[in-house]
Amino acid sequence: MVLVVIVGNGAREHAIARSLVEGGARLKAFMGSNNPGIAKLAKDNVKISNLTNFKELVEFSKDADFVVVGPEAPLVVGAANALKSAGISCIGPSIEAAQLEGSKIFTRELLQNYNIRSNIEFQAFNAIDNVETWVEKLGLENVVVKPDGLTGGKGVKVFGEHLHSKSELFDYCHQLLDSHSGFVIEEKLNGEEFTLQTFVDGSNVTPTPLVQDHKRAYEGDEGPNTGGMGSYSMTNHVMPFITHEDVKFALSEMKQTISALKKETGAIYKGFLYGQFMKTKKGIKLVEYNVRFGDPEAMNVLSIMESNMVALCFQILEGTLPDDLRFKKAATVCKYIVPEGYPTNPVKNQPIQVDEKSLDELGILYYYASVDKRGEKVVTTGSRTMGLLGIGSSLNEAEKKAELATQFVKGPLYHRKDIGTQELLEKRIAHMKKVIK
Ligand code: AMP
Ligand code: GLY
Repeated sequence: MVLVVIVGNGAREHAIARSLVEGGARLKAFMGSNNPGIAKLAKDNVKISNLTNFKELVEFSKDADFVVVGPEAPLVVGAANALKSAGISCIGPSIEAAQLEGSKIFTRELLQNYNIRSNIEFQAFNAIDNVETWVEKLGLENVVVKPDGLTGGKGVKVFGEHLHSKSELFDYCHQLLDSHSGFVIEEKLNGEEFTLQTFVDGSNVTPTPLVQDHKRAYEGDEGPNTGGMGSYSMTNHVMPFITHEDVKFALSEMKQTISALKKETGAIYKGFLYGQFMKTKKGIKLVEYNVRFGDPEAMNVLSIMESNMVALCFQILEGTLPDDLRFKKAATVCKYIVPEGYPTNPVKNQPIQVDEKSLDELGILYYYASVDKRGEKVVTTGSRTMGLLGIGSSLNEAEKKAELATQFVKGPLYHRKDIGTQELLEKRIAHMKKVIK
C-alpha cells in the first residue's frame, strides 16, 4: 500500500487527505494542531509539530512513498528541498520555484522578462524614492500596494477600498519598508476574478474546474478581506462570465510561466499551482500565483474529482501528467464557518459542536480547518473553522445543501449566507457585462 504524509492542518489539507485516502493511500499527517478530520483519515498516525521543523518532518516521513505539502509557508522556506536532500519525494515546489508565491516582485519581473501577456503595469520598491513619480504615472485612484512576501491574503491594499488618500498610501509604504523587504505598486484591475488550480509535473500543466472565491468577510462583499469565506463552481466547470477561450488563455499563461521559471532559475516545478486571474476590459490578467491549492477552492475541485489522486501524484513526480482529468459534472458550493470577530478579532479556544451524523445524512462533505481537538473537545484556534461543501446538479441545489448544513455546526461562529446564491451570481454577471462593455 502506498504510504503518504500530508503536511498541514487546514480544510485544504483535509480535502487533499480525503482524496489521497480515496485513491487508496495509507496516510500519516504532520500537523500544526490536531485537525480531527485529518487525524481520523490518518487513523491517528499524526505528529503535531511546527510545519517548518524540517528535521522532524524528514524523520516522520522516512518510510513514506511521497509527501504532499498543503500550505505555502513550509514551501517558501524549503520543505521540498529538505525532503529531497533526505531522498524523499515531495509534491510541492522547491524553494526556488516557490518564489512564485513568496515574492510578488520575482513573479511580476519574471512575467515581464518573458513577455507573458497577463502581466500588468508594476514597479518594485525597496525605498520610498520614486514612489511619488510612479503613483502619479498610474494615477492615485488606480494603484494597488502589495508587500513582497507572504501576507495570508491580507496585506494587499487597493486604492478606494483600503486606502483613501495619498497620505494613507505613503503611510502604508513606510510601514512596509519596516516590516518587509520591499513592495510592489501595480495597476488596479477592474473585473471579475476566477481561480484556476492546476497539477504541474515540471512541464505539463493540467487544469481543474474554475472556482470563484469570496474574499470579503460579510454578505454583499462588505467588510475586511479574509483568507476566503466560501466558493462555488459550476456544472460545466467554467463561470457564466468566463469562456472556455478565457480558460485556455489563462492555462497557456501558466504553462509559459512554468517554462520561464525553468529557464530563469533551473527550477522544475512539481506540485499544484494556483492562478488567480481577473477578466478585465483589457483581457485576462494575473492577480497572483499561489504554489499550492487554494483554500477554500481545493474543497470545490477535489470533492468532485474522479481521477485518482495517488496516481496523479506519481504522475507529477514522473513527469507524465495527462492533459485532462475527470470531474463529476456537478456544481459545488463551499461555505466557510468562521469564528465571531474573524478576521480582525476572532474568538479563540471556544468549543464547537459538530453533528457529523446529520451532516453525513445530508450528503454534505465537511472539512475541519483552524481547530484543535483536545480530548473529546474541538475548539476554535482563531482562523476559519470549518468548510461545508454541498454538491448538486445545479448551483441552486448545491447552495441549498451547504446552507442547510450550517445548522449542524454550533458555537460562536458565523458564515456568509449569500455565497453560491443566484442573486450573487447575477450580480457578478452584471458587473462583468458593465466592465467589458
Ligand atoms: P492577492 O494576495 O494578490 O491575491 O490579493 C488579494 C486580493 O486583492 C485579490 O484577490 C484581489 O481581490 C485584490 N487585488 C490584488 N491585486 C489586485 C489588482 N492589481 N487590482 C485589483 N485588485 C487586486
Ligand atoms: N482562497 C485564496 C487562497 O487560497 O489563497
